[in-house]
Amino acid sequence: MLDLAPDRSELEDIELASRDEIAALQLVRLQRTLRHAYDNIPHTRAKFAAAGVHPDDCRSLSDLSKFPFTTKADLRDTYPFGMVAVPHDRLARIHASSGTTGKPTVVAYTQGDLDVWAGVMARSIRAAGGRRGMKVHIAYGYGLFTGGLGAHYGAERLGCATIPVSGGMTERQVQLIHDFRPEIMMATPSYMLAILDEFRRANVDPRDCSLQLGLFGAEPWTNAIRAEIEQGFDIHAVDLYGLSEIIGPGVSCECVETKDGPHVWEDHFYPEIIDPGTGKVLPDGEPGELVFTSLTKEAMPVIRYRTRDLSRLLPGTARSMRRMEKITGRSDDMIILRGVNLFPSQVEEQIAKCGGLSPHFQLELTHHERMDAMTVVVEARPHATEAAQRTLGARELAHHIKSVIGVTVGVRVVDPGGVERSQGKAKRIVDLRPRG
Ligand code: DLL
Repeated sequence: MLDLAPDRSELEDIELASRDEIAALQLVRLQRTLRHAYDNIPHTRAKFAAAGVHPDDCRSLSDLSKFPFTTKADLRDTYPFGMVAVPHDRLARIHASSGTTGKPTVVAYTQGDLDVWAGVMARSIRAAGGRRGMKVHIAYGYGLFTGGLGAHYGAERLGCATIPVSGGMTERQVQLIHDFRPEIMMATPSYMLAILDEFRRANVDPRDCSLQLGLFGAEPWTNAIRAEIEQGFDIHAVDLYGLSEIIGPGVSCECVETKDGPHVWEDHFYPEIIDPGTGKVLPDGEPGELVFTSLTKEAMPVIRYRTRDLSRLLPGTARSMRRMEKITGRSDDMIILRGVNLFPSQVEEQIAKCGGLSPHFQLELTHHERMDAMTVVVEARPHATEAAQRTLGARELAHHIKSVIGVTVGVRVVDPGGVERSQGKAKRIVDLRPRG
């Protein structure tokens, strides 16, 4: 693998700043953000009032802990635009990600927000070893998902040529990598493994391809998968993290010289770790749930957003900004299936539309030919147990899930009573994927 670490002269001033300088900038930006959200989002103003806090109460960074959290429920309750803090004629882009039920979570950007986003993504690609003049093959999905367009504008900002392939058609991905000779790859790690297999199936040596590095994210992945991608392609594989509610990809990214957990771009996103049970802020180094406050967002400033992602905050290494440990899990039941986020409650809604199916169901997660797969195991209603009725029910449900949630799943309709009943909280997820 090539030595791709950027020279310090290539970094932005803030990437070289001291902790004190970073903290001073964060406090000014935090106070401004709290004020902006309070003044312009009635929902946030009401929540601050209910918690007995006012933006003037924030005199130091640690005062942030007095302010209430924002959750997916806040975004759902104010769907679609209730959390927007600017007049709509200032909006430049709208994206969406899965909500826990029916309606997606909507996120909006001003031109200023898009500039910040392109800036942090460009910084991420450079941290990963990318440089002006390289070509970037983008296999993240383009559309409402923030992956494709987020990566795209960041790559252009850095001065790279983008190849906006989007996801799917794996044979063509291999062909384009072979023909266009990109140096940089951006995809979910599981999709990159599928592409690796396709290279081998097509009898093309992946180690001979033009790729030098890749930024992989949008789903949890292990260092074992990193090793497989790195050795398979002879490239550097770094972890790229982000979520729509905060901006999209580019909230944090690993540096190629250390690969020791993503550095949080703390000049734009303020991280905290909390105990997911009590909501108490934990000191750096302790494991818990990541919470982010945006520091520069105009269209949708977010105060203390509970990501539900589990991690730890660690001191900076390659940069002075703090790192987060690779995500180790989630504190809720969100599933990420081939890059699409989904909740059991969304599946439940689709089952309710099928007259022959009962609400007793489980989601079986398996791993097949490198890709995660999901089968909905659902009971037939007593009046609909005939083979033909089951087939119909299965087809109907798979169709609803595909058209509403956007993923292809298998459906197995079992006899009434065939799904295990639990004593307390229903066990909805049966994870049969190998650990690694
Ligand atoms: O997945 C943004 C993204 C696109 C990140 C491309 C990186 C690359 P959402 O669809 O809103 O946004 O999903 C966000 O995905 O809360 C995590 O649970 C998970 N996630 C994202 N990146 C990582 C990662 C995009 N590197 C949710 N490791 C987050 C583990 C990740 N989980």
